[in-house]
Amino acid sequence: MTRDEARKKIIFALDVHGLDDIDRWAGILAGKVGMFKVGKELFTSCGPAAVKAVQRHGGQVFLDLKYHDIPNTVAKAMCEAARLGVQLANLHALGGAEMMEAAATAVQKEFSDAERPRLLAVTILTSSTAETLRQVGIEDSVQDMVVRLALLAKASGMDGVVASPLEIALIREACGPDFLIVTPGVRPPFAAVDDQKRIMTPAEAVSSGSDYLVIGRPIAKAEDPVQAAEWITDEIVGGAP
Ligand code: C5P
Repeated sequence: MTRDEARKKIIFALDVHGLDDIDRWAGILAGKVGMFKVGKELFTSCGPAAVKAVQRHGGQVFLDLKYHDIPNTVAKAMCEAARLGVQLANLHALGGAEMMEAAATAVQKEFSDAERPRLLAVTILTSSTAETLRQVGIEDSVQDMVVRLALLAKASGMDGVVASPLEIALIREACGPDFLIVTPGVRPPFAAVDDQKRIMTPAEAVSSGSDYLVIGRPIAKAEDPVQAAEWITDEIVGGAP
């Protein structure tokens, strides 16, 4: 794998809340990472201007708003996400097949394959445990639910899923080589674990079959964030097949 291919796999989590912060991070990391993740905190604080700010620096965007609502509402929200020109956008697979199909169909109807974002489904949040699922009436294990929801997402027209690195192999086996897998919970050897629970190194995650790695604090909290991004790129190149 080339350095450029490895760099493109890194999605920097913009876990900040102001346009100044975006300018600072996108300014130094555009060209050093493949994409920037705009999540609920930043989008609630700055709105679509957050996406535009990243794009002004030449950065690509993963809009991580995890939609979960009635099919018509999610389909319309997803079309608005596509209109912002983002590369990745997501919803909760637990919203069901009809909701996912409505979103995929609406986006495909309005946008060409080249210009539309790839649509991802969140399977089970990395913070959830068997107990979390049991409390809401789901008796299956987290792993069984992840595979079940990944298969449902694929059958409903999603391009891929967001999942923990420890679930990559199971999803790859169930959903095949072309299904995108995006993984948070990645920690390079030089970084602190923070509140991440089930982690892998970037090289391990890529070797297991992850297409994109969502990485925040190992870069944001590093003494030299650009150097940290370069080290992560090196580690992926060195460790990936
Ligand atoms: O831990 P890090 O700062 O690299 O987090 C990057 C992204 O991973 C966050 O924006 C969040 O979406 C996700 N995350 C997660 N599980 C955690 C902590 C963060 O999935 N325990």
